[in-house]
Amino acid sequence: MSKKKHPYRLYLTEEQMPKQYYNLRADMKELPEPMLNPVTKNKATLEDLLPVFCEELARQELDDKTRYVDIPKEIQEMYRIYRPSPLIRAFNLEKYLQTPAKIYYKFEGNNTSGSHKLNSAIAQVYYAKQEGIKHLTTETGAGQWGTALAEACSYFNIPLSVYMVKASYEQKPFRKDIMRTFGANVIASPSNTTKVGKEILKNHPNTTEAVEKAVTTPDSKYVLGSVLNQVLLHQSIIGLECEKAFEILDEYPDIIIGCAGGGSNLGGLMAPFMRDKIKGKHNPRIIAVEPASCPTLTRGKYTYDYCDTGKMTPLAKMYTLGCDFIPAPNHAGGLRYHGMSPIISKLYHDKYLEAVSTKQTDVFDAAILFAQKETIFPAPESSHAIKVAIDEALKCKETGEEKTILFGLTGTGYFDMTAYSSYLDKTMTNYIPTDEELEKSFPNIIED
Ligand SMILES: Cc1ncc(COP(=O)(O)O)c(C=O)c1O
Repeated sequence: MSKKKHPYRLYLTEEQMPKQYYNLRADMKELPEPMLNPVTKNKATLEDLLPVFCEELARQELDDKTRYVDIPKEIQEMYRIYRPSPLIRAFNLEKYLQTPAKIYYKFEGNNTSGSHKLNSAIAQVYYAKQEGIKHLTTETGAGQWGTALAEACSYFNIPLSVYMVKASYEQKPFRKDIMRTFGANVIASPSNTTKVGKEILKNHPNTTEAVEKAVTTPDSKYVLGSVLNQVLLHQSIIGLECEKAFEILDEYPDIIIGCAGGGSNLGGLMAPFMRDKIKGKHNPRIIAVEPASCPTLTRGKYTYDYCDTGKMTPLAKMYTLGCDFIPAPNHAGGLRYHGMSPIISKLYHDKYLEAVSTKQTDVFDAAILFAQKETIFPAPESSHAIKVAIDEALKCKETGEEKTILFGLTGTGYFDMTAYSSYLDKTMTNYIPTDEELEKSFPNIIED
């Protein structure tokens, strides 16, 4: 074992924080398939993206070549309010597991939104403000993204409408009130404030109104907190900080683990390490963890699909369960998105990364153990990564290997008490969809 004394928490200094984002696409041997215009099915152009996204973000979405993108000074200033985030060594968990593995986690829950989502929210709001956008819309499920965006909009002084999935709106009133604290207008979705909302209320309950509101309101744009290439670009700050911290520790992770909803935290965490893997400099295993009830990578189809349930955004080639897929009602917490980032999808397809799915009761077993040993109360989403980090550490115990494991602890779980209660009361159940059930929502928009 290394004799070097490691700190529990390694914080970079403000000066050591990254000044540029890293665009992994610039180093990929094969690029993700291009986005398509949903009407013509031709390759999407900048103009195709402009009705929905603001210009700089649309540019970032399509830019596969620029390797490093300067982080504007104003964004860096807001990052400094809550970053750098610590790289923590899970000494106590290691001791409990009696593993020779070294377990590190990057903790992104140290801000009011309680998750990594703020990293991209700040960037998206900043670029919108620069372009004179006067209003933003978004949708939020569990609420972390809506809260992050509300924080960023309040900082940059832009009004925000958040369409919040009705079930969360009713079950998580405090989450709604945090968004309202930051000045956001929170609407339970579907609502009767949009055409699409009225239609959904009549036909099927899903959330799509934010896009309609953005395209029908002057100087208004839609912003999305995951899946998109631009979001992974902004989240690269997580991986870049980790890379620097590991340099300081004179170590390199053998295994990198991230939970995967739409792929933004994993995409950001792994970015510089995946670059090293692609270039043959290092060969870490990179593992995406998803819920067994929403198994996008492990059981989804690699094909073109809409990024939103309203079918208004461009088509992206990705692993998807179909934009009409709705996870079973007993699925707690996030990671319920139907599709996976096209970058992660392509790398998975080309076998640069692995994917596993886990049952939610196993995830909560890991969450409780982690909380008790590390004294951080983890988000259910993040706990998927904890579960697999523990599994890998236990494999090291069997083999005696002293591997270095890094996982993303994306957030805290204070607003997920309903899920924790059902686990603690032993009423939590698992649901794994059958192949026939999955087959029903698979898209068939472009013949493969
Ligand atoms: C705490 C937390 N972690 C992870 C995720 C998953 O999103 P992504 O895959 O985009 O990182 C979410 C999404 O809501 C989240 O709130």
